[in-house]
Amino acid sequence: MQFNIINILKLESTNSYAQQLIKSGDLHEGDVIFALNQEKGRGQGDNFWESEPGSNLLISIILEPKMIPASRQFVLAQLVSLAIADLVKEYVLTGRVPIEVKVKWPNDIYVNNKKVAGILFQNFVKGNEIEYSIVGIGINVNQEQFYSGASNPVSMIHHTHKSINIELLLSKLLDNIGVSYEVFRLEENFQELKSRYINNLFRYDEWATYSDGKETFRGRIVDVDEYGRLMVELESGEVKKFMFKEIEFVSF
Ligand code: BTN
Repeated sequence: MQFNIINILKLESTNSYAQQLIKSGDLHEGDVIFALNQEKGRGQGDNFWESEPGSNLLISIILEPKMIPASRQFVLAQLVSLAIADLVKEYVLTGRVPIEVKVKWPNDIYVNNKKVAGILFQNFVKGNEIEYSIVGIGINVNQEQFYSGASNPVSMIHHTHKSINIELLLSKLLDNIGVSYEVFRLEENFQELKSRYINNLFRYDEWATYSDGKETFRGRIVDVDEYGRLMVELESGEVKKFMFKEIEFVSF
C-alpha cells in the first residue's frame, strides 16, 4: 500500500482536518495527515488528547476498507492496534527489564499498566460498506511529563531512555499497518487476526475488578466476539458481553 504523507506544522486536530478535506473530495486511501502540533487533539468521547508540540506522533490515516463489512468494523481496530503494539515492542523490549506491551480493549496500547497510545476511528458507513475511515493515532513518544490529567499516560522515552526519531517511527508504523492491511485484503484472515489480538490483550484470562457504571464486580476476560464486544466471565460462571463504554477497568 502506498502512503502519501501530508505534513502540517500546526492544526487543531488531524482527524478534524481530514474530515474537512474528505468533504471536499481532496483525500483518498493512503493519505496521511501528519502534524507536529495539535491544539485541540481529540480523544475518545469528549476527551482531549494532550501532546507537547513536536514530541509525539500525531497522524490521521485515510482508508477505504471496502473489503471489511460495516458490521465487522472491529477488524480495523484489531489490525491497527496490533500494528502499533508491534511497533512499540520493537522499541521498548530491550530484554533487560521485563516489560509488557498490550492492547487494552478495544484499542488502547499499554506499556505495563499505562497508556502509551490511543486511536480515534471515524468510520463513514453506507449500507454495509465502510466508505472510508479516518484512523487517528496518537503515540506518546518523547514527552516526559503530562499536565492535562490524562489517566495514567506513559511515553516510549520512559522505557527507551533516549529520544526517538518521529519520522522514522512513522515510516515503521505505516509499514506495519500497510502490510497487515494488504494481507487482510488478500486473505480476509479474521480468525488469525483475532487470535493475535487475544494473545496481546491486556488482562486476558486474569481475574480483575470492573464496573458497569452501576456496580463493581469481579470478572475475567475470556474472549471478544466478531462485533468487538468484550466477553467477561463473572464469578457466577455467567459470561456477559459488553459494548464499548458499557464496562470500565477498575483496578490498576
Ligand atoms: C483515545 O482517546 O485513546 C484516542 C486518542 C487519539 C488521539 C489522536 S492524535 C491524532 C488524531 N487526531 C486527533 O484529534 N486525535 C487522534
